[in-house]
Amino acid sequence: MKPNLAHLFLTLFLQIITLHVAGDSPSVYKPVDDITLQCGFSGDQVNQQDGRTWSGDINSKFSPSQAAGSSSVFKAATPISSSSQVPYTAARLSRSEFTYTFPLTSGQKFIRLYFYPTSYAAEFDRSKSLFSVEAGGFTLLRDFNASVTADAFSSETVSREFCLNIASEQSLNITFTPSRATPDAYAFINGIEIVSMPDNLYYTPPQSEDGPVSVGSINPYPIENNTAMEMVYRINVGGSQLSFNRDTGMYRNWDGIQVEYNYLDDVSKNFSVLPQNSSIQPDFSGCNHVEPR
Ligand SMILES: *[C@@H]1O[C@H](CO)[C@@H](O)[C@H](O)[C@H]1NC(C)=O
Ligand SMILES: *[C@@H]1O[C@H](CO)[C@@H](O)[C@H](O)[C@H]1NC(C)=O
Ligand SMILES: *[C@@H]1O[C@H](CO)[C@@H](O)[C@H](O)[C@H]1NC(C)=O
Ligand SMILES: *[C@@H]1O[C@H](CO)[C@@H](O)[C@H](O)[C@H]1NC(C)=O
Ligand SMILES: *[C@@H]1O[C@H](CO)[C@@H](O)[C@H](O)[C@H]1NC(C)=O
Repeated sequence: MKPNLAHLFLTLFLQIITLHVAGDSPSVYKPVDDITLQCGFSGDQVNQQDGRTWSGDINSKFSPSQAAGSSSVFKAATPISSSSQVPYTAARLSRSEFTYTFPLTSGQKFIRLYFYPTSYAAEFDRSKSLFSVEAGGFTLLRDFNASVTADAFSSETVSREFCLNIASEQSLNITFTPSRATPDAYAFINGIEIVSMPDNLYYTPPQSEDGPVSVGSINPYPIENNTAMEMVYRINVGGSQLSFNRDTGMYRNWDGIQVEYNYLDDVSKNFSVLPQNSSIQPDFSGCNHVEPR
């Protein structure tokens, strides 16, 4: 029995932050777990944008394991059309199932998966990747076709972000399984990032005095920690786009007002106002002063 599979709950994150961003805030969150794994790579690479080091999985404590008895190709490769952006510089590819095991502290985590669908050597054609990803009893991706997904967004790369809770067993398996729907389908991954998040940032606190913080106003229900979530939209409402290096320590990417406007109706677009800057002192020195008669 796989009790949790049906529980994967895809939800829409519509988040609002204030105008204060990392950099001018002293209270940046420091994640307990902060893992950046460059798959199919040996050694360390630094992402120039935020200075974080991505460690290769080859000969590392996070080296993946292949299903027992499997003899199929399981390799590390660099893309034919080169990308210099970490973690898209290398990939782990396989025609059989493989698993990464991460020792983690208990608590709620972001799990981010990075894919660069391109051709990796002759035996791994761009259009032949089709696979599922499972973690902690949840199916995060099912029969995922990375190339068609990237094409649909006119993007070279694809990333997916999930939230899940690590219970007390303190280790997480992430398993990549090529689809059986196509005979030569393979699974691949370029980068895996796992970052702790503050308790109950998105999950409902167990005994909240105000009642459960919930999704939906008609039939509200709590988001308990046996739920996994996928990030669909994240918008800095009324503000600018923020990339992961400007987030408050959780490396989230935020869309800005250009994306927000796609989802606003005409009335809201035309008649809403953006926040004013209340620290500006009005200067009336140029105004005419009229004495009362
Ligand atoms: C992925 O999608 C593309 C575009 O629809 C298709 O050409 C390709 O055959 C698909 N790959 C697999 C393995 O199904
Ligand atoms: C779920 O969250 C509650 C409150 O944070 C905690 O007491 C409980 O132990 C958690 N359960 C698991 C399985 O992590
Ligand atoms: C995690 O994966 C390892 C290696 O494949 C396996 O031995 C272990 O039983 C797995 N643990 C869970 C909880 O599935
Ligand atoms: C909003 O503005 C657009 C462009 O100026 C205009 O075409 C549209 O009719 C306006 N809609 C409303 C509801 O005011
Ligand atoms: C508000 O105005 C002050 C003075 O012009 C400026 O220094 C500050 O950066 C502004 N703040 C924001 C959030 O725009």
